Amino acid sequence: ALVTTKKMFEKAFQGGYAIGAFNINNMEIIQGVVEAAKAQNSAVILQVSKSALKYAHPKYLKAMVDAAVEETGLDIALHLDHGSDFEVCKNCIEYGFTSVMFDGSHLEYEENVAQTKEIVEYAHARGVVVEAELGKLAGVEDDVKVDSANATYTDPDQAVDFVKRTGVDSLAIAIGTSHGAYKFKGDAKLDFDRLESITKKLEAEGIHNFPIVLHGASSVDETSVETCNKYGGNISGAKGIPAEMLRKASAMAVCKINMDTDIRLAMTAAIRKSFGENPSAFDPRGYLGDARELIQKLVEEKIKNVIGSTNSM
Ligand code: G3H
Ligand code: 13P
Ligand code: ZN
Ligand code: NA
Repeated sequence: ALVTTKKMFEKAFQGGYAIGAFNINNMEIIQGVVEAAKAQNSAVILQVSKSALKYAHPKYLKAMVDAAVEETGLDIALHLDHGSDFEVCKNCIEYGFTSVMFDGSHLEYEENVAQTKEIVEYAHARGVVVEAELGKLAGVEDDVKVDSANATYTDPDQAVDFVKRTGVDSLAIAIGTSHGAYKFKGDAKLDFDRLESITKKLEAEGIHNFPIVLHGASSVDETSVETCNKYGGNISGAKGIPAEMLRKASAMAVCKINMDTDIRLAMTAAIRKSFGENPSAFDPRGYLGDARELIQKLVEEKIKNVIGSTNSM
C-alpha cells in the first residue's frame, strides 16, 4: 500500500537496518527501483525533489507510484525531498504524498524551528509525516552549492531541542555526508560518535527509537563512473560514501538513507554503453530498458548488502 514511513522506521530502528530512499523522476527509474524492492521483499521510499516535480509533474509521478504500489503489492512511501517552504509541502500533501521533508537547514535556528513546527502541525492533521534537517551538508542540491568550509555538523543538544519543540517524525543530520558525485577530496569520514550522541541524548529525554536520516549517501560506484568514461563521458574526481560506513550507520539510529547520484550514474552508464555498442540503434526502449535493468541491479545490491532491508515487508 501507499504508506507513511512510520511503521517502516519503527521496524528498521529495531531491526538495525535502514530503508532506502531513492530519487525518482521518470518511469524507468521508478520501475527499476520498485522491481528491486519487490525482488528483495523490501519496503521502499520513492522521493521527489522540487526540480523533479517541475520536470515530470506531480500528477504523472503520483499516478506512476500508484501503479507501482498496485503492481508490486509493496509498502511504498511517496516523499517530498528537500521541500523549501510551507507552500510546496502543502501542495505535495494535496497531491497525495505520504511524507514531506521541510529543509530549513539554511535558516537561522529559531526560524527553522518555527517553520518546521508549522508544517508538522499541518501535515499531522492530514496523516502525513514530516522529515526536517538540522546542520548543513556540503555539496550541491537544487542548484544550491555549499562548500565544505560552510558545512556544519549537527549539534546533538540542539537536535534534541529541535525534535522536542517541532514534533517532527524524523531528522536529517550532518555528520560528514554530502550531496552529489564529488563528496570528498581526501578520505571519507563520518562522525559516528555524533550520531551515537544524538541518539543517547534523545533517549535521555524519553524520546526512544527516533529515526535519523542520512542525505548525500551515494557510494559513487567506480564501475558506473568507469563505464561512463569508457563510452565518451568525462567524469573525474568523483567519490562517495563507502558501503561499509553506510552499513554501520544503518545498524545505528539511521532509518532512511538517501540515494540519487548512484542512480544517475547507473542510468547514464547504461545509456552511454548502449549507444557506444549499438551506434545504429535508435529505439529508446533499448537504451532506456538497459538503464532500468542496471538501476534494478544497483538497488537490489544496496538493499541486500548495504542498508539491509531485505524481507522488511
Ligand atoms: O538532494 C538533492 C537530490 O539529489 C535531488 O536533486 O534537485 O537535482 O533533483 P535535484
Ligand atoms: P546523493 O547525491 O549522495 O545521491 O544524495 C541524494 C540525497 O540526499 C537526496 O536528498
Ligand atoms: Zn538530500
Ligand atoms: Na537503523
